[in-house]
Amino acid sequence: PLRVALDVDTGVDDACALLLAALHPGLDLRAVTCVAGNAGLVDVTRNTLTVLETAGRRDVPVGVGATRPLLEQPRDARHVHGADGMGDLGLPAPRGGPDRRHGVDLLRDTADAAADAGQPLTLVPLGPLTNVALFARLYPDAFDRLGRVVFMGGGAQVSNATAAAEFNVFHDPEAAALVLDACAEHRVPVTMYGLDVFYAPRVSAAQAARLAGLGTPVAALASGLVDFQCRRFDAADATIGDAGAVALLVDPDAVLTRRLPVRVELAGTWTRGRTIVDQRDWGGDLDHDPHGLAPAQVDVALEVDGPRLAEVWL
Ligand code: BDR
Ligand code: CA
Repeated sequence: PLRVALDVDTGVDDACALLLAALHPGLDLRAVTCVAGNAGLVDVTRNTLTVLETAGRRDVPVGVGATRPLLEQPRDARHVHGADGMGDLGLPAPRGGPDRRHGVDLLRDTADAAADAGQPLTLVPLGPLTNVALFARLYPDAFDRLGRVVFMGGGAQVSNATAAAEFNVFHDPEAAALVLDACAEHRVPVTMYGLDVFYAPRVSAAQAARLAGLGTPVAALASGLVDFQCRRFDAADATIGDAGAVALLVDPDAVLTRRLPVRVELAGTWTRGRTIVDQRDWGGDLDHDPHGLAPAQVDVALEVDGPRLAEVWL
Protein backbone atom coordinates (compact mmCIF):
# COMPACT_ATOMS: atom_id res chain seq x y z
CA PRO A 1 0.00 0.00 0.00
CA LEU A 2 0.94 3.62 -0.64
CA ARG A 3 2.23 5.51 2.39
CA VAL A 4 0.18 8.65 2.86
CA ALA A 5 -0.32 11.47 5.35
CA LEU A 6 -3.31 13.80 5.28
CA ASP A 7 -3.34 17.44 6.36
CA VAL A 8 -6.95 18.36 7.07
CA ASP A 9 -9.36 21.08 8.26
CA THR A 10 -12.16 18.60 9.05
CA GLY A 11 -14.63 19.59 7.50
CA VAL A 12 -17.48 17.44 6.15
CA ASP A 13 -15.58 16.41 3.01
CA ASP A 14 -12.26 16.14 4.89
CA ALA A 15 -14.10 13.59 7.04
CA CYS A 16 -15.07 11.69 3.87
CA ALA A 17 -11.41 11.77 2.84
CA LEU A 18 -10.22 10.55 6.24
CA LEU A 19 -12.58 7.56 6.13
CA LEU A 20 -11.25 6.56 2.73
CA ALA A 21 -7.59 7.00 3.68
CA ALA A 22 -8.10 5.16 6.97
CA LEU A 23 -9.89 2.16 5.51
CA HIS A 24 -8.80 1.57 1.90
CA PRO A 25 -6.47 -1.44 1.60
CA GLY A 26 -4.41 0.33 -1.06
CA LEU A 27 -3.45 3.13 1.32
CA ASP A 28 -1.25 3.09 4.39
CA LEU A 29 -2.26 6.13 6.46
CA ARG A 30 0.74 7.06 8.61
CA ALA A 31 -0.29 10.40 10.12
CA VAL A 32 -2.89 13.15 10.04
CA THR A 33 -2.22 16.80 10.79
CA CYS A 34 -4.80 19.46 11.55
CA VAL A 35 -4.97 23.04 10.36
CA ALA A 36 -7.44 25.88 10.91
CA GLY A 37 -9.75 26.29 7.93
CA ASN A 38 -13.34 25.12 7.72
CA ALA A 39 -13.46 25.53 11.50
CA GLY A 40 -11.09 26.60 14.27
CA LEU A 41 -8.27 24.26 15.23
CA VAL A 42 -9.94 22.91 18.38
CA ASP A 43 -13.02 21.81 16.42
CA VAL A 44 -10.92 20.51 13.52
CA THR A 45 -8.82 18.38 15.88
CA ARG A 46 -11.86 16.98 17.70
CA ASN A 47 -13.60 16.18 14.41
CA THR A 48 -10.50 14.49 13.04
CA LEU A 49 -10.02 12.32 16.15
CA THR A 50 -13.70 11.37 16.10
CA VAL A 51 -13.55 10.24 12.47
CA LEU A 52 -10.41 8.16 13.01
CA GLU A 53 -11.84 6.55 16.14
CA THR A 54 -15.06 5.73 14.30
CA ALA A 55 -12.91 4.06 11.65
CA GLY A 56 -11.13 2.08 14.36
CA ARG A 57 -7.85 3.85 13.62
CA ARG A 58 -6.70 5.22 16.97
CA ASP A 59 -3.26 4.00 15.96
CA VAL A 60 -2.89 6.88 13.48
CA PRO A 61 -1.14 9.85 15.16
CA VAL A 62 -2.99 13.16 14.87
CA GLY A 63 -0.82 16.28 15.05
CA VAL A 64 -2.16 19.72 15.92
CA GLY A 65 -0.77 22.34 13.58
CA ALA A 66 -1.30 26.00 12.75
CA THR A 67 -4.09 27.93 14.45
CA ARG A 68 -4.21 30.60 11.78
CA PRO A 69 -2.88 31.50 8.33
CA LEU A 70 0.61 32.95 7.86
CA LEU A 71 -0.55 36.51 7.16
CA GLU A 72 -4.31 36.48 6.71
CA GLN A 73 -6.86 36.79 9.47
CA PRO A 74 -8.42 33.45 10.37
CA ARG A 75 -11.80 32.78 8.75
CA ASP A 76 -13.91 29.66 8.70
CA ALA A 77 -16.59 28.03 6.57
CA ARG A 78 -19.13 27.00 9.20
CA HIS A 79 -21.88 28.30 6.96
CA VAL A 80 -21.02 25.36 4.69
CA HIS A 81 -19.85 22.73 7.18
CA GLY A 82 -22.13 23.32 10.19
CA ALA A 83 -21.55 24.90 13.62
CA ASP A 84 -19.14 22.14 14.72
CA GLY A 85 -17.43 22.16 11.31
CA MET A 86 -18.50 18.60 10.51
CA GLY A 87 -22.22 18.54 9.83
CA ASP A 88 -23.53 18.79 13.43
CA LEU A 89 -24.13 15.05 13.52
CA GLY A 90 -24.14 14.88 17.33
CA LEU A 91 -21.20 12.48 17.44
CA PRO A 92 -19.61 11.56 20.79
CA ALA A 93 -16.40 13.33 21.82
CA PRO A 94 -13.28 11.31 21.00
CA ARG A 95 -11.78 9.24 23.78
CA GLY A 96 -8.17 9.72 22.74
CA GLY A 97 -6.18 12.89 22.24
CA PRO A 98 -3.71 14.24 19.73
CA ASP A 99 -0.02 13.38 19.44
CA ARG A 100 2.34 15.33 21.69
CA ARG A 101 4.36 16.55 18.71
CA HIS A 102 3.38 19.72 16.86
CA GLY A 103 1.74 18.85 13.55
CA VAL A 104 4.70 20.16 11.57
CA ASP A 105 7.10 17.99 13.58
CA LEU A 106 4.84 15.01 12.98
CA LEU A 107 5.01 15.69 9.24
CA ARG A 108 8.81 15.80 9.44
CA ASP A 109 9.02 12.52 11.36
CA THR A 110 6.52 10.82 9.05
CA ALA A 111 8.32 11.94 5.89
CA ASP A 112 11.67 10.82 7.30
CA ALA A 113 10.38 7.43 8.43
CA ALA A 114 8.80 6.74 5.05
CA ALA A 115 11.94 7.74 3.16
CA ASP A 116 14.08 5.62 5.51
CA ALA A 117 11.81 2.66 4.71
CA GLY A 118 12.32 3.26 0.99
CA GLN A 119 8.67 4.26 0.44
CA PRO A 120 8.63 8.06 0.21
CA LEU A 121 5.55 9.69 1.66
CA THR A 122 2.66 11.03 -0.41
CA LEU A 123 1.40 14.13 1.41
CA VAL A 124 -2.23 15.05 0.80
CA PRO A 125 -3.14 18.55 2.01
CA LEU A 126 -6.91 19.08 2.04
CA GLY A 127 -7.13 22.42 3.80
CA PRO A 128 -5.29 25.75 3.77
CA LEU A 129 -1.59 25.06 3.17
CA THR A 130 -0.26 26.70 6.35
CA ASN A 131 1.16 23.54 7.95
CA VAL A 132 2.77 22.40 4.72
CA ALA A 133 4.39 25.79 4.16
CA LEU A 134 5.80 25.75 7.70
CA PHE A 135 7.02 22.20 7.11
CA ALA A 136 8.88 23.27 3.96
CA ARG A 137 10.51 26.21 5.71
CA LEU A 138 11.32 24.58 9.06
CA TYR A 139 12.46 21.19 7.79
CA PRO A 140 13.59 21.51 4.17
CA ASP A 141 15.65 18.32 4.38
CA ALA A 142 12.60 16.27 5.37
CA PHE A 143 10.40 18.08 2.83
CA ASP A 144 12.96 17.15 0.20
CA ARG A 145 12.35 13.47 1.00
CA LEU A 146 8.62 13.58 0.14
CA GLY A 147 7.57 11.37 -2.72
CA ARG A 148 4.71 13.51 -3.90
CA VAL A 149 2.21 16.18 -2.88
CA VAL A 150 -1.43 15.90 -3.98
CA PHE A 151 -3.42 18.85 -2.70
CA MET A 152 -7.04 19.96 -2.92
CA GLY A 153 -7.12 23.62 -3.75
CA GLY A 154 -7.32 26.21 -6.46
CA GLY A 155 -8.86 25.81 -9.85
CA ALA A 156 -8.06 26.65 -13.44
CA GLN A 157 -11.53 28.02 -14.20
CA VAL A 158 -13.75 27.49 -11.17
CA SER A 159 -13.76 29.35 -7.83
CA ASN A 160 -15.89 29.38 -4.67
CA ALA A 161 -14.68 31.56 -1.77
CA THR A 162 -14.62 34.64 -3.98
CA ALA A 163 -15.38 35.20 -7.66
CA ALA A 164 -11.68 34.53 -8.29
CA ALA A 165 -10.38 32.18 -5.61
CA GLU A 166 -10.91 28.76 -4.10
CA PHE A 167 -11.30 28.52 -0.29
CA ASN A 168 -8.10 26.65 0.69
CA VAL A 169 -5.84 28.91 -1.34
CA PHE A 170 -7.79 32.08 -0.50
CA HIS A 171 -7.57 31.28 3.22
CA ASP A 172 -3.75 31.33 3.15
CA PRO A 173 -2.44 32.48 -0.24
CA GLU A 174 1.15 33.00 0.95
CA ALA A 175 1.27 29.43 2.22
CA ALA A 176 -0.04 28.07 -1.09
CA ALA A 177 2.51 30.10 -3.08
CA LEU A 178 5.28 28.96 -0.78
CA VAL A 179 4.33 25.29 -1.08
CA LEU A 180 4.29 25.42 -4.89
CA ASP A 181 7.69 27.10 -4.85
CA ALA A 182 9.06 24.55 -2.37
CA CYS A 183 7.82 21.65 -4.51
CA ALA A 184 9.58 23.17 -7.52
CA GLU A 185 12.78 23.82 -5.57
CA HIS A 186 12.90 20.34 -4.05
CA ARG A 187 11.61 18.64 -7.20
CA VAL A 188 8.69 17.10 -5.36
CA PRO A 189 5.99 16.26 -7.94
CA VAL A 190 2.81 18.15 -7.11
CA THR A 191 -0.75 17.50 -8.25
CA MET A 192 -3.50 20.10 -7.92
CA TYR A 193 -6.95 18.58 -7.41
CA GLY A 194 -8.93 21.79 -7.77
CA LEU A 195 -12.48 22.98 -8.25
CA ASP A 196 -12.50 22.08 -11.96
CA VAL A 197 -12.94 18.44 -10.87
CA PHE A 198 -13.97 18.75 -7.19
CA TYR A 199 -17.74 18.74 -7.69
CA ALA A 200 -17.94 15.85 -10.15
CA PRO A 201 -17.58 12.72 -7.94
CA ARG A 202 -20.98 12.61 -6.23
CA VAL A 203 -22.97 10.31 -3.97
CA SER A 204 -26.76 10.44 -3.95
CA ALA A 205 -29.03 10.57 -0.91
CA ALA A 206 -30.36 7.18 -2.02
CA GLN A 207 -26.85 5.70 -2.05
CA ALA A 208 -26.26 7.23 1.40
CA ALA A 209 -29.44 5.60 2.68
CA ARG A 210 -28.23 2.22 1.37
CA LEU A 211 -24.93 2.81 3.15
CA ALA A 212 -26.75 3.56 6.39
CA GLY A 213 -28.52 0.22 5.99
CA LEU A 214 -25.20 -1.57 6.53
CA GLY A 215 -25.61 -0.68 10.19
CA THR A 216 -21.94 -0.13 11.06
CA PRO A 217 -20.62 3.05 12.77
CA VAL A 218 -18.49 3.87 9.70
CA ALA A 219 -21.47 3.51 7.34
CA ALA A 220 -23.62 5.64 9.65
CA LEU A 221 -20.99 8.40 9.69
CA ALA A 222 -20.42 8.25 5.93
CA SER A 223 -24.12 8.42 5.16
CA GLY A 224 -24.61 11.20 7.74
CA LEU A 225 -21.95 13.31 6.01
CA VAL A 226 -23.59 12.89 2.59
CA ASP A 227 -27.02 13.45 4.03
CA PHE A 228 -25.95 16.69 5.74
CA GLN A 229 -24.67 18.11 2.46
CA CYS A 230 -27.81 17.08 0.55
CA ARG A 231 -29.95 18.89 3.13
CA ARG A 232 -27.59 21.88 3.32
CA PHE A 233 -27.69 22.46 -0.42
CA ASP A 234 -31.21 21.10 -0.95
CA ALA A 235 -29.83 18.64 -3.51
CA ALA A 236 -30.39 14.98 -4.35
CA ASP A 237 -26.67 14.26 -4.21
CA ALA A 238 -23.43 15.63 -2.76
CA THR A 239 -19.81 15.84 -3.79
CA ILE A 240 -17.31 13.67 -1.94
CA GLY A 241 -15.12 16.78 -2.15
CA ASP A 242 -11.68 16.35 -0.60
CA ALA A 243 -12.15 12.57 -0.71
CA GLY A 244 -11.75 12.79 -4.49
CA ALA A 245 -8.09 13.76 -4.02
CA VAL A 246 -7.56 10.58 -1.99
CA ALA A 247 -9.56 8.46 -4.44
CA LEU A 248 -7.27 9.73 -7.18
CA LEU A 249 -4.37 7.94 -5.49
CA VAL A 250 -6.28 4.66 -5.71
CA ASP A 251 -7.57 5.13 -9.27
CA PRO A 252 -5.26 7.59 -11.06
CA ASP A 253 -6.69 6.83 -14.50
CA ALA A 254 -10.03 8.32 -13.48
CA VAL A 255 -8.45 11.79 -13.61
CA LEU A 256 -6.92 13.63 -16.56
CA THR A 257 -4.06 15.88 -15.53
CA ARG A 258 -1.85 18.20 -17.54
CA ARG A 259 1.48 19.57 -16.39
CA LEU A 260 1.08 23.34 -16.44
CA PRO A 261 2.73 26.38 -14.90
CA VAL A 262 0.78 27.58 -11.86
CA ARG A 263 1.16 30.74 -9.82
CA VAL A 264 -0.82 32.03 -6.86
CA GLU A 265 -2.08 35.60 -7.09
CA LEU A 266 -0.93 37.42 -3.94
CA ALA A 267 -1.51 41.03 -4.84
CA GLY A 268 -4.84 41.45 -6.62
CA THR A 269 -7.61 43.44 -4.99
CA TRP A 270 -10.36 41.14 -6.26
CA THR A 271 -8.21 38.22 -7.39
CA ARG A 272 -6.07 37.51 -4.32
CA GLY A 273 -5.72 33.76 -3.80
CA ARG A 274 -6.52 32.81 -7.38
CA THR A 275 -4.43 30.06 -8.92
CA ILE A 276 -3.23 31.29 -12.30
CA VAL A 277 -3.02 28.16 -14.44
CA ASP A 278 -1.19 28.96 -17.65
CA GLN A 279 -2.92 26.95 -20.37
CA ARG A 280 -1.32 28.78 -23.26
CA ASP A 281 0.30 26.46 -25.71
CA TRP A 282 3.75 27.89 -25.19
CA GLY A 283 5.57 24.88 -23.81
CA GLY A 284 6.74 26.76 -20.73
CA ASP A 285 9.44 28.57 -22.68
CA LEU A 286 10.75 31.12 -20.22
CA ASP A 287 12.03 33.35 -23.01
CA HIS A 288 8.41 34.24 -23.59
CA ASP A 289 7.60 34.83 -19.93
CA PRO A 290 7.56 38.57 -19.28
CA HIS A 291 8.19 38.00 -15.57
CA GLY A 292 11.28 35.87 -16.10
CA LEU A 293 10.52 33.86 -12.96
CA ALA A 294 10.04 30.14 -13.42
CA PRO A 295 6.56 29.19 -12.20
CA ALA A 296 5.97 25.85 -10.50
CA GLN A 297 5.06 23.05 -12.90
CA VAL A 298 1.98 21.40 -11.50
CA ASP A 299 -0.02 18.37 -12.63
CA VAL A 300 -3.41 20.07 -12.77
CA ALA A 301 -6.51 17.86 -12.68
CA LEU A 302 -8.63 19.13 -15.58
CA GLU A 303 -11.14 16.33 -16.14
CA VAL A 304 -12.47 13.51 -14.03
CA ASP A 305 -14.68 10.48 -14.41
CA GLY A 306 -16.86 11.49 -11.45
CA PRO A 307 -18.85 8.27 -10.96
CA ARG A 308 -15.65 6.24 -11.12
CA LEU A 309 -13.97 8.25 -8.31
CA ALA A 310 -17.19 8.21 -6.27
CA GLU A 311 -17.19 4.42 -6.64
CA VAL A 312 -13.76 4.27 -4.96
CA TRP A 313 -15.24 6.08 -1.96
CA LEU A 314 -18.39 3.96 -1.81
C1 BDR B 1 -12.27 23.20 0.04
O1 BDR B 1 -12.69 24.08 1.04
C2 BDR B 1 -13.26 23.37 2.11
O2 BDR B 1 -14.51 23.91 2.46
C3 BDR B 1 -13.39 21.94 1.68
O3 BDR B 1 -13.11 21.10 2.78
C4 BDR B 1 -12.37 21.80 0.60
O4 BDR B 1 -11.11 21.42 1.10
C5 BDR B 1 -13.07 23.44 -1.22
O5 BDR B 1 -12.87 24.74 -1.68
CA1 CA C 1 -10.85 20.66 3.39
